[in-house]
Amino acid sequence: MIGRLNHVAIAVRDIADATRIYRYTLGATVTEPTALPDHGVTVSFVELPNTKIEFLEALGEGSPIAAFLARNPEGGIHHVCYEVDDILVARDRLVAGGARILGDGEPKTGAHGKPVLFLHPKDMCGTLVELEQA
Ligand code: CO
Repeated sequence: MIGRLNHVAIAVRDIADATRIYRYTLGATVTEPTALPDHGVTVSFVELPNTKIEFLEALGEGSPIAAFLARNPEGGIHHVCYEVDDILVARDRLVAGGARILGDGEPKTGAHGKPVLFLHPKDMCGTLVELEQA
């Protein structure tokens, strides 16, 4: 059911710092940070030949990554994102199999303007999984 690895997301304290490290130390192409107030994060993407790295910086009160950064003060891997052809078909199959969808179970528009869902880490080998309709 899942297809390509769309991105690995890293929660960071300071997205400017993360951008500098990836751009100048690792020599990667990094997009400019974009604030997504609806999601409580500022994001940028490292564009690699075969996938992307998504940087997530907390934005505003109650950011969904604030608790993660409290537990991981240096930042760290926050989630992995796999592509699916049809997010509603994927969701229904996952729910039928006992997996829990975070939030109200309905897809939201993600950082790429495409529908996304998040699966509970307890059902996914301890890792938060994002599904994105390709
Ligand atoms: Co993501």
